[in-house]
Amino acid sequence: MIRVPLSRFPQLAPLLLLSLTLLAAGCQRGADDAPAAAARTGTAPAATADRDEHSYAEPEKVITEDLALDIALDFDARTIAGTATYTLQWKDQTATQLVLDTRDLTISKVEGEAGGGWQPLQYALADADPTLGSKLTIETPGRNPKVRVTYVTSPGASGLQWLTPEMTEGKTLPFMFSQSQQIHARSWVPLQDTPAIRYTYTARVTARPDVMVLMSADNDPAAQRDGEYTFSMPQKIPSYLMAIAAGDLVFKPISGRAGVWAEPAMVDRAVAEFIDTEKMIEVTEQLYGPYRWERYDLLILPPSFPYGGMENPRLSFITPTVIVGDKSLVSLVAHELAHSWSGNLVTFASAKHGWLNEGFTSYVENRIVESVYGKDVSDMEYVIARNALRDSIAGMPEATQALAVKPGTELDADDALSAVSYDKGAWFLQFLEQRFGRENFDAFLRGYFDHFAFQSITTEQFLEYAKANLFDKFPDTVTDAEIQEWVYAPGIPAYAPQVMSRNFGIVDSARLAWLGSPSLPPRQITDAWSTQEWLHFLDSLPQTLTVEQLAQLDAAYGFTGTDNGEIAMRWYPLAVRSGYTQANEALAEFTARVGRRKLIMPIYTALVQTEPGLALAKEIFARARPGYHPITTASVEAVINGATPVPAPVPAEVPVADDTTSAPAN
Ligand code: BES
Ligand code: ZN
Repeated sequence: MIRVPLSRFPQLAPLLLLSLTLLAAGCQRGADDAPAAAARTGTAPAATADRDEHSYAEPEKVITEDLALDIALDFDARTIAGTATYTLQWKDQTATQLVLDTRDLTISKVEGEAGGGWQPLQYALADADPTLGSKLTIETPGRNPKVRVTYVTSPGASGLQWLTPEMTEGKTLPFMFSQSQQIHARSWVPLQDTPAIRYTYTARVTARPDVMVLMSADNDPAAQRDGEYTFSMPQKIPSYLMAIAAGDLVFKPISGRAGVWAEPAMVDRAVAEFIDTEKMIEVTEQLYGPYRWERYDLLILPPSFPYGGMENPRLSFITPTVIVGDKSLVSLVAHELAHSWSGNLVTFASAKHGWLNEGFTSYVENRIVESVYGKDVSDMEYVIARNALRDSIAGMPEATQALAVKPGTELDADDALSAVSYDKGAWFLQFLEQRFGRENFDAFLRGYFDHFAFQSITTEQFLEYAKANLFDKFPDTVTDAEIQEWVYAPGIPAYAPQVMSRNFGIVDSARLAWLGSPSLPPRQITDAWSTQEWLHFLDSLPQTLTVEQLAQLDAAYGFTGTDNGEIAMRWYPLAVRSGYTQANEALAEFTARVGRRKLIMPIYTALVQTEPGLALAKEIFARARPGYHPITTASVEAVINGATPVPAPVPAEVPVADDTTSAPAN
């Protein structure tokens, strides 16, 4: 639940502007009011109004029903090569083309099945658009029931990372993994890369025989390494959930249906950290109905994984940075598991309805944390997230502060989901829960997941369903105006429910007492603090402190060199802003080793504000770059290239106690 969205980094503005212009150019309608109007009348807007601006696919003409991959992983060449075969359902009997999304793929052959055999088809690969990649247009005058594309990926594919053995824990075997969300699946498979289309898939994958290959499919915990692997995903999924990973991976069970895949040196620590996973599945099933994907395994990736977690079906991808030894960051697993209902079962039709995935998931995550770890913990997580949301909304244009983003206001796909989708989304659902009562709201959500299971939907479809099954069923509980404000207006409604954390009351008193006197809070108090309390303590400190104050904190609590990434992403930027250069060495080590954007972008952003900081940022980046994921590299480059540093840190003054924080309520 603790997140700092990239929208906090104004340095990305030029990149975002570029994509904004591109996307605005593709937007046909002056549709500003359309979603609100549709919500009022309860009718979903026409399909064209909701066309996915991030894909060239034409779902109104043809959709993929099944994808069969036959591919080979080549660690030396850093490529995936093979064929993708699509079973198609032609919706438009006058259509003559199949349009696929690709990025940096080399296409060598396209064939169509006709009369039992394969015939070559004509095709054209357009010049690459920087955001969308290259449109692949295949001539299909006969509307073939099956089409097959032979292709090879590029070594720099944006959705893949290839690691040398030295970059792994065990240092003996290479590693590779995919990250397809938002629009990177097209860099390793040519496909209709929009969540509006769902399909089943199978895969035959060959690789060097000493690595284990896994996919977002029916992984066998007892699979032998033999260089040839087959997979099947019998449930229909959207393209952003296509996933593959390979390396020195071993399996250890957590329960009969849950377990961990990790490098041998990590697997026991991971099992211990995530031992509550089965309990989490059970509480979510009690709330929202059966887990429909059979197995639920976790794959622990190397620290270069650019995200915290990714909800690849049956196999969530997880950063190792949450394995801190005390289960304090396992809400990440609650989150990725929750996506098995909100996201993987009921999916947003395009990224502008991202809150249907991330907002619902953040709400469900908090409910899981409350059930498994208690309300004190889930309340702390809500407060931390909402304080960050408030900070991030303050720097966002109004158009992007609405839950449902209007056509033409889309951001770059990698940054389309801001704290608004996550935390304002969860807040809206908590508001509904409080108004309708937990029992009614839980029953409603359970019905919603069932009703839209294995479908991709828009905000307006959700609202229409909620009107019939919640709002009209309990009249006069919420007003139309309230719903409209939550979904389509900027900011947070004044009547949003407030969460108070008892634990944070103590943290706030301790912080204020310390800032007003030279002595730190008593040990008896701070010894009892969990990670969440420390995060709140750090979040509430002034923007800068004196070097002496930081040295005092560091001597007492050992923040510099911490293994806890959530602490590191708060402490190091504070150290940089305050000119506490004693932290630089550990900061550089952390930033070069970890590729998770949320943790390191705040550090780079703090560094590039001054000339010596920018020099250090460049040095770290030069060292780290070969080990960074392409998505992380792009984000860091944007921040470094957009820097306008001042000569040196502004000398910190001793802050005055009462303007120490932007006053979080708790
Ligand atoms: N699906 C997201 C990751 C994602 C979002 C990838 C948008 C690409 C584009 C995943 O479920 C997620 O939200 N991960 C969070 C962790 C979570 C606890 C907030 C992350 O990676 O920080
Ligand atoms: Zn998520």
